[in-house]
Amino acid sequence: MNSVLKRDLDQIGILLEGIKNESLSFLKDINAVPTSTQPKVSPGNPLDHKGKGAIPAFEEFMERFKSVITGSSGPRYWGYVTGGSTPAAIMGDWLAGVYDQNTQGIKGNGDISALIEVETVDLLLDLLDLPKDFLGGFVTGAMMSNFTCLAIARQWLGHVQGVDISREGLYNCPKINVLSATPHSSAIKALALLGMGSTNIIQIPTMEGNREAIAIEALEQHIQELNGAPFILISSAGTVNSGDFDDFKAISALRSKYKFWWHIDAAFGAFVNCSPEYKHLVNGWEKADSITVDCHKWLNVPYENAVFFVKEKHNKLQVATFQNSNAPYLGDISENFTYLNLLPENSRRLKALPVWFSLKSYGKEGYQSIVENNIELAQKLGKWIEKHPQLELLAPVNLNIVSFTLKNADSVTIDKFLNMLNSRGKVFMTPGMFKGKKGIRAALVNWRTNPEDIDIATHEIEATLKLL
Ligand SMILES: Cc1ncc(COP(=O)(O)O)c(C=O)c1O
Repeated sequence: MNSVLKRDLDQIGILLEGIKNESLSFLKDINAVPTSTQPKVSPGNPLDHKGKGAIPAFEEFMERFKSVITGSSGPRYWGYVTGGSTPAAIMGDWLAGVYDQNTQGIKGNGDISALIEVETVDLLLDLLDLPKDFLGGFVTGAMMSNFTCLAIARQWLGHVQGVDISREGLYNCPKINVLSATPHSSAIKALALLGMGSTNIIQIPTMEGNREAIAIEALEQHIQELNGAPFILISSAGTVNSGDFDDFKAISALRSKYKFWWHIDAAFGAFVNCSPEYKHLVNGWEKADSITVDCHKWLNVPYENAVFFVKEKHNKLQVATFQNSNAPYLGDISENFTYLNLLPENSRRLKALPVWFSLKSYGKEGYQSIVENNIELAQKLGKWIEKHPQLELLAPVNLNIVSFTLKNADSVTIDKFLNMLNSRGKVFMTPGMFKGKKGIRAALVNWRTNPEDIDIATHEIEATLKLL
C-alpha cells in the first residue's frame, strides 16, 4: 500500500473526528452562514506528485474553499427550490459514503443494497398515499426523474405505433405529440435529450385568472385535434412561480376517453399529500403512468436525491428502455431484479439511505409539520408584501412560493434590487416570472425556517429598498 494512504488509514479516527468537528461547527452556525458569497478562491498549486495526505488536504480545503460554502442548506436560502438536510438524513448520507455500496440489484454480485432502495420506495409510497402498483427508483434529481419517466413514455408512444424506439431509434416513428400547459424547464430539457425536441410541446392554455394550471376544456379540444393519435401529457403538481396544480381528477376522467401517457412532475408538490389541509391538491394523481418526486427539495435530504414512480404494468416497456444486458461481466441480470435495467445509471451510490433514515425518524407527522410550517410562513411573508407600499405580489401565495415585484419598477431596477438583497448574505431569492411579468421569487422548503427568519427577511427587504 502507498505510504500516504497507509498513514491516512492508520489515522482514520483522527480524520473522521476532524470532519465531525467541522460538520458540527457548520451545522451549529448555519443560521449565520452567509446565504451568498463572493465567487473567488485563491489560486491552487498543480497536482502534487506524491500527494500530501488527508490532513494537509483538509487544511488546504478549509483555507481556500470554506469561504465559498454558503448557507444554502440553512433557513433563509429561498432560491430555486432548495431543501436542507434533516439530522437523520445527514446520518444516512454519511453512512452511504462510508458503506460505499453500488446499488444495482437484489441478487447481484455480493452487493444487495437495492433491498434498502426497494423498502425506501415503499415507505415513500406510504408517505405520499400512492398505491403499491407503482415501481420506483432513485436518480440524481427531478430533472433525471423527468428524463427517466419521459424515456419510458417515449417507448410507450413508439410501442403503440409499432416502433421499438430503444432498438430502432426515432427514425421510423410518426410525429411525437407532447401536451403541457406549464412544464418545468427540466421536462423540456428532458424532451431535448430524448430526441423529442424542446420546441415540440403543444402548449395548452392555462385556466383563466391568476392560474398556471392547465385549462381542461382547451386540453380536450387539442386532444380531439390529434384525431386519435397517441400523445404524452406532462402535468404539474406545483409550478415554480405560483405553486399551482393541474386538476388531476379531471385529467383522470380523460383517461377513459383518450390514449395517452400521463406524466406528473410533482418534484416538490408531491409533499402536500402529507398535509390533510392540502392533500386535495393531488386528488386523482394515483391514476398517472409516471410521477417525478424530488427528495432533495421538501423531503430535506442532501443533494443528489430524487425518485421516479412508474406504474408496474409498464415494466416491460421500462426494461426495454433501460436494458443493459449485453455485458457478460455483469452476470445474468435478466433473471434477477436489478435497477440496471430500470433506470438511466448503472453504478449508483446508496441514495435511498438518507431518505430511509429521515422517513423512519420523522414519519408522516414530521413531514406534515415541515410542509405546513413552510406554507404558513410563505403566507406570512405574502401578507407583509401585500401591505407594503413599494411592493406587490405577482401571483397568489397558493403554497410555499412567494412571487413578488417592486411596484412601477423596470426590469433593471428589479435585478438591481435582487442583487443588492442577495449580496447582503442574510436571505437569498431568485428571479421569477409570472404571466409575462418579471419579479422575484422565494420558495420555502427548508425544515429549519421559522417566524424569526421571515422577520429577518422583511427587515432585509426594507433595508435594501432604502439603499436602492
Ligand atoms: C417542478 C420541478 N421539476 C423539476 C425540477 C428540477 O429539479 P432538479 O434540479 O432537482 O433536477 C424542479 C426544480 O426546481 C422543479 O421545481
